[in-house]
Amino acid sequence: MAPRDVTLFCLVLCLGQKIQAQDGNFPIPIISAMPGSVIPWNGSVKILCQGTLESYVYQLEILENVTYKLVEKKLGFQEVAEFVINRMDTNTAGRYQCRYGREHRWSAPSEALELVVTGLYDKPFLSTDGGHVVMPGENISFQCSSAHMSFDRFSLSRPGGATLSRHRDVGLQGDFTLGPVNLSFSGVYTCYGWDSGRPYIWSAPSNALELVVTDTRSQDYRTENWVRMGVAGLVLIALLAFLAENRLGPQLPHQEDQQDLPDLSWSRQKSQTKWTFGLTPRTTRE
Ligand SMILES: *[C@@H]1O[C@H](CO)[C@@H](O)[C@H](O)[C@H]1NC(C)=O
Ligand SMILES: *[C@@H]1O[C@H](CO)[C@@H](O)[C@H](O)[C@H]1NC(C)=O
Ligand SMILES: *[C@@H]1O[C@H](CO)[C@@H](O)[C@H](O)[C@H]1NC(C)=O
Ligand SMILES: *[C@@H]1O[C@H](CO)[C@@H](O)[C@H](O)[C@H]1NC(C)=O
Repeated sequence: MAPRDVTLFCLVLCLGQKIQAQDGNFPIPIISAMPGSVIPWNGSVKILCQGTLESYVYQLEILENVTYKLVEKKLGFQEVAEFVINRMDTNTAGRYQCRYGREHRWSAPSEALELVVTGLYDKPFLSTDGGHVVMPGENISFQCSSAHMSFDRFSLSRPGGATLSRHRDVGLQGDFTLGPVNLSFSGVYTCYGWDSGRPYIWSAPSNALELVVTDTRSQDYRTENWVRMGVAGLVLIALLAFLAENRLGPQLPHQEDQQDLPDLSWSRQKSQTKWTFGLTPRTTRE
């Protein structure tokens, strides 16, 4: 009984491994966009499709509802094929996928890549409910609002490239509450407005807002800045005093008494040189 079970077990296992090895010849290709998938109007973008070393043909497709349309084919053995869109516009924005061919077969398609074009509508305005300095563990709310356009979706782009999307809330704005925050939330945020009917066509980016997540309390942060400014001011005053003293040096009353001091004799030499230069043009004119 037991040996037969083992044999059966091995048969299932080995067969399973064989099937897996066959699929391993055709891994799902990986699609990505450089420099990213949110591209300004008329900007260029590279779409990379990673297959296998033995792939001899790559195909880029754009998805439309339930079907797809061929965009471009690239022939030649290569592990990564590169497709370039030189000018992003409303026609090139959308959902893309790619696949490769090897051994006279096509691979399964990659996951979908959503390519967005921005700058087709006026920019919205990004603000926060509080300050721009928060402590780790706190929450922060951003509001993305548009005075003129009635967008029904808003997206917030976060440091690190990730974007969050929201339905429109009350009025013409989208609210994003992030948190509890940690240090990795620090950085520059922007938002976009768009319409759910045309999900890959976004507005121009909003104003940029910098968020600082810091362990020291915001009060300390401000105090620290005051101290820094104070020190800078003192240095400036000292510098000005030093310059003024050097300038006035030669005009001091008891010049003879102080002639031996190296500092003063240097500044006098300098001012005498200046005086000579100032006189030169007049002499030539005469
Ligand atoms: C993009 O190109 C089109 C056609 O050349 C032009 O009309 C449009 O103003 C351009 N947009 C931007 C944002 O440069
Ligand atoms: C996608 O489907 C919707 C309705 O199902 C249709 O109105 C639209 O024209 C289709 N778009 C394309 C590009 O086929
Ligand atoms: C932050 O938001 C979470 C929900 O996302 C909530 O549970 C938590 O109490 C909030 N913390 C603060 C400090 O408001
Ligand atoms: C910060 O928070 C994010 C999301 O809540 C989490 O994925 C990330 O690991 C955190 N980073 C650190 C350094 O704690």
